[in-house]
Amino acid sequence: MALVTSTEMFKKAYEGGYAIGAFNVNNMEIVQGITEAAKLENAPLILQVSAGARKYAKHVYLMKLIEAAIADTDLPICVHLDHGPDFETCKSCVDGGFTSVMIDGSHYDFKKNIEVTKQVVDYAHDHGVVVEGELGKLEGVEDEVKVAAGEGSYTDPDQVQEFVEKTGVDSLAIAIGTSHGAYKFKPGTKPQLRFDILEEVERRLPGFPIVLHGASSVPQDFVKLINQYGGKMPDAIGVPEDMLRQAAKMAVCKINIDSDLRLAMTASIRQHFVEHPDHFDPRQYLGPGRDAIRAMVRHKLVDVLGCNGKA
Ligand code: G3H
Ligand code: 13P
Ligand code: ZN
Repeated sequence: MALVTSTEMFKKAYEGGYAIGAFNVNNMEIVQGITEAAKLENAPLILQVSAGARKYAKHVYLMKLIEAAIADTDLPICVHLDHGPDFETCKSCVDGGFTSVMIDGSHYDFKKNIEVTKQVVDYAHDHGVVVEGELGKLEGVEDEVKVAAGEGSYTDPDQVQEFVEKTGVDSLAIAIGTSHGAYKFKPGTKPQLRFDILEEVERRLPGFPIVLHGASSVPQDFVKLINQYGGKMPDAIGVPEDMLRQAAKMAVCKINIDSDLRLAMTASIRQHFVEHPDHFDPRQYLGPGRDAIRAMVRHKLVDVLGCNGKA
């Protein structure tokens, strides 16, 4: 099995009423934890790399780790640039072997978003690479970009057809109330997503794959563990998993999850250090960290996304 684009995955996911998990990778243990889970569950997979991850680990290391994961698992894996900030970064990922890129023009006005997105689509399609665009602005922190509470904006369904037609994107990320990071909804409030917007987008773009960012659920067990073992996380609330299951049955074909993996790995490592204060070999705590990622991803594939057995 080689690297694949997401085209076939999305077609089957749309028809089958499930979604593909797109998980962020930054190092070997994360790549291994995710891909081992996908292998155990025979699930198609998108591994995504942010600009920050490329800076941290270097493009070539992440690419080689993903190639190794394909050789090891024989799974169809799509390697995707998450939140490409500009044409140059997208071009560098296309040239460097990625099969999918996101150009995040959501911070531009509609006209400029179309312009930069189309430039990326023209280049990527010439090289057999697919493109995700974004309309509407999510709140939260992602890389060095912070969109403050109250400054996000929902996707306007009136704009989606024109955006897709004029840019030629292969999938579209929309904003319906999810946000990046661990602090998505105010503690004590009831999390809500604008399913009416998703429905309207689906009606305007029949059969077209929609992407949901900021889809971590922030399991309370992990927040509690982190705090029990010396962490200081404020109350955090994520997207309820039943809402993600509902979105996956609709037009949402790709669901982005990063924070939940971070929580699982951090909780495990904190616990390990408290229980084994004498340990200093990184394998002693990174191994359990990898196991925690594998368990979290298996849960997402089977209980949330419904893509187990679909590879
Ligand atoms: O949406 C952003 C992802 O969680 C990636 O985060 O930019 O800190 O690597 P990062
Ligand atoms: P979370 O912060 O909710 O995991 O979202 C990740 C994401 O959208 C990556 O693009
Ligand atoms: Zn995102």
